[in-house]
Amino acid sequence: MKLLVTGATGYIGSHAALELLDAGHEVVGVDNLSNSSRESLRRVEALTGRDVPFVQADIRDRAAMEDVLREGIDAVMHFAGLKAVGESTEQPLAYYENNIGGTLALTQAMEAAGVRRMIFSSSATVYGDPARVPIDENTPTGRPSNPYGYSKLMIEQILRDLAAADSRWSVALLRYFNPVGAHASGQIGEDPQGIPNNLVPYISQVAVGRREALSIFGDDYPTPDGTGVRDYIHVVDLARGHVRALEFLANAVSERPDQLDQSPQAAGAQASANCHVWNLGTGRGYSVREAVAAFEKASGRSVPVQVAPRRPGDIAECYADPTLARQQLGWQAGHDLDAMMRDAWHWQRQNPQGYEV
Ligand code: NAD
Ligand code: UD1
Repeated sequence: MKLLVTGATGYIGSHAALELLDAGHEVVGVDNLSNSSRESLRRVEALTGRDVPFVQADIRDRAAMEDVLREGIDAVMHFAGLKAVGESTEQPLAYYENNIGGTLALTQAMEAAGVRRMIFSSSATVYGDPARVPIDENTPTGRPSNPYGYSKLMIEQILRDLAAADSRWSVALLRYFNPVGAHASGQIGEDPQGIPNNLVPYISQVAVGRREALSIFGDDYPTPDGTGVRDYIHVVDLARGHVRALEFLANAVSERPDQLDQSPQAAGAQASANCHVWNLGTGRGYSVREAVAAFEKASGRSVPVQVAPRRPGDIAECYADPTLARQQLGWQAGHDLDAMMRDAWHWQRQNPQGYEV
């Protein structure tokens, strides 16, 4: 299939582009480069020996999107968006405008071009502070603690409504837990601008000498060692989950909707015959201290830590029940925490300043 990948130069988009190419698909990348470097896709091209046509454009530019989509695109993987949680509380309008406005323009362009298959990057943040873990897809969505999270929840609703209104659409809402790590080559990886918000990039920058110490945001949570527990998932596993979701949507077209198992158990309570919801996580939670220890082991470097107050909006524990993706997509994560940290470190050590050379 020929895929339009929005946010293609970003962290997850670049890894997804690589996995799509490896699986024999074609990729056209779109990005406005607001949070990424053109270099990432050049490296994907070098790693795969394949061309990745790239269009520097904003997804809010509907005419530009329509032009690209009319070039024989079969499906869209939609990664483009702003994702800094703290920034979203300071600039809510920018986040709603970019993430929701961008998705509306993109889906309108898709409708006009007759491309009606979309795989969307959602987040476990839509569950808010869940009553229990592990979290399966039947868990009601909650109250995200920030505008970024609400933008994901609203986009899910928009795409669900679209699929309900028109059976020609097929949609996958992929709820990521905590993507970390990098491609095993160390050639592509996460390259946050400024001070990293997320744990593993911060640890990596401490290990490589760019920052002094990691602040652990709270060690008084009701967890085994008092620090927050998350479901870290290797970005390559995550990317492969997208390829499986794409293939599922493509195959589902040939089945009659009434032949699909539509029980809530099978589909996830918030899913329907042409709008699917899948958690992408490993099913295992690790604490901040366990993550630091795994990184130290993988890198052979010590990572100084200091305990700081809890970060507003953080929850104690969050990890997936990934059973539905295993059953329906035949997908499960293959990398353990040691592999995630090894690959995060490999990327960081080879590219201490990220893509900046
Ligand atoms: P990223 O910032 O590395 O990639 C997003 C890309 O989108 C960037 O390259 C950016 O330049 C581009 N972009 C932003 N707005 C755009 C616009 N209007 N037009 C065109 N391009 C635009 O982030 P990522 O970690 O690769 O995340 C990809 C997607 O996955 C995002 O939608 C994010 O919200 C979602 N997600 C990420 C995580 C995570 O932990 N990284 C977790 C859950 C969900
Ligand atoms: C955060 C976002 C979430 C988003 C996800 C992926 C918040 C409240 N949530 O999730 O919406 O989908 O990133 O982008 O920001 N930690 C430290 N020190 C640090 C950084 C993190 O102790 O410097 C701790 C956190 O308290 C948490 C764990 O490490 O317990 C993971 O944090 P992080 O990587 O930021 O991910 P989330 O908070 O799960």
